[in-house]
Amino acid sequence: MKTITVNASKTYDILICAGALDEAGFTIKKAAGGQTAAVVTDDNVAALYGNRLSDTLTKNGYRVVQYIFPRGEASKNAETYLSLLNFFAEEKLSRQDVAVALGGGVTGDLAGFAAASYMRGINFAQIPTTLLAMVDSSVGGKTAINLSAGKNLAGAFYQPNAVICDVSLLSTLSPEIYKDGCAEIIKYGVIAGGELFDSLAAPVKGQLEYTENIIASCVKIKRDIVSEDEFEQNSRKLLNFGHTVGHAVELLSGYKIPHGRAVAAGMAAETRMAVRMGLCEKSCLLELLDMLRRYDLPAANPYEAGSIARACLSDKKRDGGGITFVFPVKIGECVLKKIPADDLEAVIRLGLEGS
Ligand SMILES: NC(=O)c1ccc[n+]([C@@H]2O[C@H](COP(=O)([O-])OP(=O)(O)OC[C@H]3O[C@@H](n4cnc5c(N)ncnc54)[C@H](O)[C@@H]3O)[C@@H](O)[C@H]2O)c1
Ligand SMILES: [Zn+2]
Repeated sequence: MKTITVNASKTYDILICAGALDEAGFTIKKAAGGQTAAVVTDDNVAALYGNRLSDTLTKNGYRVVQYIFPRGEASKNAETYLSLLNFFAEEKLSRQDVAVALGGGVTGDLAGFAAASYMRGINFAQIPTTLLAMVDSSVGGKTAINLSAGKNLAGAFYQPNAVICDVSLLSTLSPEIYKDGCAEIIKYGVIAGGELFDSLAAPVKGQLEYTENIIASCVKIKRDIVSEDEFEQNSRKLLNFGHTVGHAVELLSGYKIPHGRAVAAGMAAETRMAVRMGLCEKSCLLELLDMLRRYDLPAANPYEAGSIARACLSDKKRDGGGITFVFPVKIGECVLKKIPADDLEAVIRLGLEGS
């Protein structure tokens, strides 16, 4: 078992351990207390793991209520969010009670935002069940829902009381969804470089211990950045590598292209831009493209520069008169650079394959 402690506006532990789901009731009681546990989960994960979670919560003295929504990014919207808040109210949750997100990034973001805003904030625990949620979305306290204008446009920074990563739950993930998590891991590899990036050359699969180690490495990178800049004033922006173009691609696809694959295409585009602007070594682009190929992740997207630029400008990362991009200089070093709105389309064109 690995325990990683986050010191942000709340101090909490991230447990990484196969089998941790069956002890989750104990862990959550210790970290959050309360009488009622409101489990938030999608229909898919509910069928797989809902009963096991209810059992351990009940055994540890909780009254358990479950809110189940249809799987997928399309549920991460204002309608589901409001319906979840009403559910909390109907179940008479108090501030002492706890919301438990059991699922991938969609569940964590939605349940987290509801936990942050219901009665101005109730206790909250995350049990991530996808690789992406284990390495990224369950850590660091970003919660959000999508609006029609863009991804994650309404949300809050809200740290959980506990995060429980049971890596054995990854065994039921489809290879496609597993791959989405690998895109975020490659993102950490490019930001941090060194051993992590090198170790990814052998794809993240198979042995639980290897997977646990990779998850722990990513979580530590995110923990260190979040401890320094919880509210994304500065260094936390580095974690958005690949996400400026990535979010635009997700939005333009009507969320048919999943987050991980959109981020993969985004990383490739943003690195091409950096090379063509003379900011980044060509070898860095080649290493990234090679890594994406190993994981069968896309290095291109089907959209034109003008559409991507317009989608970027509706995204929340617009600041002042432009968009701040994260550009790699080399593997292990990224920089922030603001591109003025007027230059955006031309710069994005540099990132598209064959342009
Ligand atoms: N808050 C953050 O810091 C942050 C960071 C990265 C991504 N995100 C968000 O995360 C979301 C993407 O997360 P995701 O890829 O986990 O999506 P997701 O939550 O939709 O999960 C993907 C699919 O996997 C299924 N699933 C989940 N766990 C399973 C399991 N153990 N076995 C079998 N099937 C399982 C789900 O039912 C769903 O169909 C996006 O909305 C993105 O914006 C947030
Ligand atoms: Zn992401």
